[in-house]
Amino acid sequence: MQNNKVAWSDAFSVGSKLIDDQHKGLVQMTNDLFTGCERRDETVSFMKAIQSAVSYAKVHFATEERFMQKTNYPDYALHKKEHEDFVQMVLKQVKNFEDGNCAPIDFALFLKNWLLNHIAVSDKKYSPYLTNIKDAEFAPPK
Ligand SMILES: [Fe+2]
Repeated sequence: MQNNKVAWSDAFSVGSKLIDDQHKGLVQMTNDLFTGCERRDETVSFMKAIQSAVSYAKVHFATEERFMQKTNYPDYALHKKEHEDFVQMVLKQVKNFEDGNCAPIDFALFLKNWLLNHIAVSDKKYSPYLTNIKDAEFAPPK
């Protein structure tokens, strides 16, 4: 189980401290889900952990989308669609989980795979557009 956890690597950096910190937060939340699996948490607390990961992901997606719009990123629409598809997939997984058709470990693995692939492939593509943009302008609304 231990080796399912993700260790942050600078190779994941997209060149913005704000976005990197949010990605680190998502990695941490994914690792917490694996910890929950090890401890065999109750369905209810596992569900709470999923919900906080999803609401954090939504805040994070909104931040990235503001960055992309501000920098006229050409693949903005495509990237936004990936975020929307993710939310739909999570809703489906949550339903499966509630119906007893998805074990906590499956959900944690799904989140890990999506996150790592999304950061390493799709997020990396907007990285060159972030140069000269100040993080402070795009902090999530308080
Ligand atoms: Fe993204």
